[in-house]
Amino acid sequence: MTSVVDVANVEKTFKLYKQRHKSLKDRVLHPGKGNATELTVLQDVSFSVGEGETIGVLGRNGSGKSTLLKCICGVLQPTAGQITVRGDLAGLLELGAGFQPELSGRDNVYLSASMLGLSRRKVDSVFDEIVAFSELEKFIDTPVKFFSSGMYVRLGFAVAVTAAPDVLVVDEVLAVGDERFQAKCMDRIRQFQSDGRTILLVSHNADQVRSLCSRAVVLEKGRLVADASAGEAVKVFREHLLGTQESKATSTGEDSDVVIEWVRGVSGSFTARTNERFEFLTNVRASAPVEGAFVLELYDQAGRLVARTDATKSPISLSAGMQELNVAIEELPLLDGAYQMNIGIVSPDGDTVLAWREQIAVLEVAYVGRGAGQVALRLNVH
Ligand SMILES: Nc1ncnc2c1ncn2[C@@H]1O[C@H](COP(=O)(O)OP(=O)(O)OP(=O)(O)O)[C@@H](O)[C@H]1O
Ligand SMILES: [Mg+2]
Repeated sequence: MTSVVDVANVEKTFKLYKQRHKSLKDRVLHPGKGNATELTVLQDVSFSVGEGETIGVLGRNGSGKSTLLKCICGVLQPTAGQITVRGDLAGLLELGAGFQPELSGRDNVYLSASMLGLSRRKVDSVFDEIVAFSELEKFIDTPVKFFSSGMYVRLGFAVAVTAAPDVLVVDEVLAVGDERFQAKCMDRIRQFQSDGRTILLVSHNADQVRSLCSRAVVLEKGRLVADASAGEAVKVFREHLLGTQESKATSTGEDSDVVIEWVRGVSGSFTARTNERFEFLTNVRASAPVEGAFVLELYDQAGRLVARTDATKSPISLSAGMQELNVAIEELPLLDGAYQMNIGIVSPDGDTVLAWREQIAVLEVAYVGRGAGQVALRLNVH
């Protein structure tokens, strides 16, 4: 496969100026010294993206994802290393990047499309299409400084996809905006994929990465800690989210391979009742005996984490071979709704993921009563 983006040993260091030179004398005596500290945000990052691939970039807040994408888009210069991009590239970077606040939506469409290499005539011919996609017909002559963040993203996305670049770089922005518009963007991204174009996508949403990306890289404190299949990379990302220590991801720390096979509700279904006990079974296979701990997560329909259990409170001993674990949620404190469930087996200290299954089941919670919201609060009023 020919590579379209090559990132080789990239380093990015920002200079942080804490205080100014006190005096001219100070400045003359210590030119460029003394008042700047350096912050290395990317260190020795290398990976390449093949033509037609969709690569996810995962990492917790501040791990360097946006900085990496800005370097790839040429907005920032790496301090060391090299980035090669073959073909034309459109970047949807952090909010606000790329638009001139004082100009109208219309002028910004022309400006940013021309920066993406579209001629004025070409923009004339696709202008209505761009505006229709963004659904901003009424606001297109308003200066974009009055736009909401959602409107910014809609217009930016519409321009980028209409320009049909060889490489599309998207930084998280798809998390902004309502669900319907997000779905529309996802459709467009899938169309992009089937056209054989290349996509680099930052996302905090592991499920989105799994469903859209063939591969993903994980950044932790500016270093690449994984470059693997989407599923494998999500596992490493989880490990870093759960773990507090550094450099855990590179070693599994255990000699046993653990696989979670399936789950099944004890009653046959995955329907639970508010304030009642919900019990399910899960089949786990281990290649050797291992001490571990069980962790469960629930996400609501909007993708928000509703609960992650404390693994250190649920230790388990696995023996070699297949075994069935019985898991019970006591007095489920949730009102009605459908919750995506992820489960994992981690090391007893909770820091290393041994096995992980995203969206292994949807837990339907049935509630009869007049309470509202997401959490079932039980009051005691005297
Ligand atoms: N222009 C800059 N000057 C100084 N430090 C910067 C600059 N831009 C980013 N940083 C720092 O670099 C680090 C990485 O930032 P970056 O925005 O790349 O992280 P991120 O992974 O995109 O985070 P998030 O998930 O919150 O978007 C942070 O510590 C940030 O404060
Ligand atoms: Mg960012």
